[in-house]
Amino acid sequence: MNNQRNLQIYRLWSPLYDAAVGRVFDRPRRRAIDLLQLQPGERLLLSGAGTGLDLPLIPPEIWVTAVDLSPSMLQKAREKGHGRTTFALMDAQALALPDHTCDAAALNLILSVVPDGQTAFREAWRTLRPGGRLVIFDKFLPEDGRLSPLRGAAGKIIAALGTDPNRHLSDVIPQEQMAAISSNDPAIFRGQYRLVLLRKPQANG
Ligand SMILES: C[S@@+](CC[C@H](N)C(=O)[O-])C[C@H]1O[C@@H](n2cnc3c(N)ncnc32)[C@H](O)[C@@H]1O
Repeated sequence: MNNQRNLQIYRLWSPLYDAAVGRVFDRPRRRAIDLLQLQPGERLLLSGAGTGLDLPLIPPEIWVTAVDLSPSMLQKAREKGHGRTTFALMDAQALALPDHTCDAAALNLILSVVPDGQTAFREAWRTLRPGGRLVIFDKFLPEDGRLSPLRGAAGKIIAALGTDPNRHLSDVIPQEQMAAISSNDPAIFRGQYRLVLLRKPQANG
């Protein structure tokens, strides 16, 4: 996966994406936003916002920053944002956002897409204030599961569609942030997709 390739892939996906994945992921997407327990006036980062399928689930009292690498995906998202939503073309691996300025962050179906999922996680974590919450909805291999040659080969084919199915949670969350995980639950497809909530420690996070 690389950014240029993702730009090409998601330009093709943009007109089809909502019809293709909207219904399938609706319930876990709602759970992801619920887990953040957003409070009126809080600031939420949507990293890799895509076509903005999360946006209608976010209360209008929340200030949302929705970023994505793909102009065509973000163009679709613009149709769904409310008055407190700002949109920015940005690489999730190098966010042009200051430290500690978000109360919450949602990384839905993005850490398996960017070339370096751990860097994208670190960037979202950096923008979170101490005590902030970060939710991840994505697919991960079981930590104890070895990758069979067949699964590895299938993963390369699926990666051509713009997502890597062969990442572990421990590939994207740095070791030093593992203790911040407050829940890690199966979402859909027999737990291949998971909902993970982290809370940034109040100090030294
Ligand atoms: C599978 S879609 C998920 C979109 C959305 N988060 C959702 O839940 O439907 C992956 C998104 O990641 C975006 N993307 C890929 N590489 C990126 C990068 N380096 N920085 C930001 N967004 C990226 C794509 O353009 C696409 O919109």
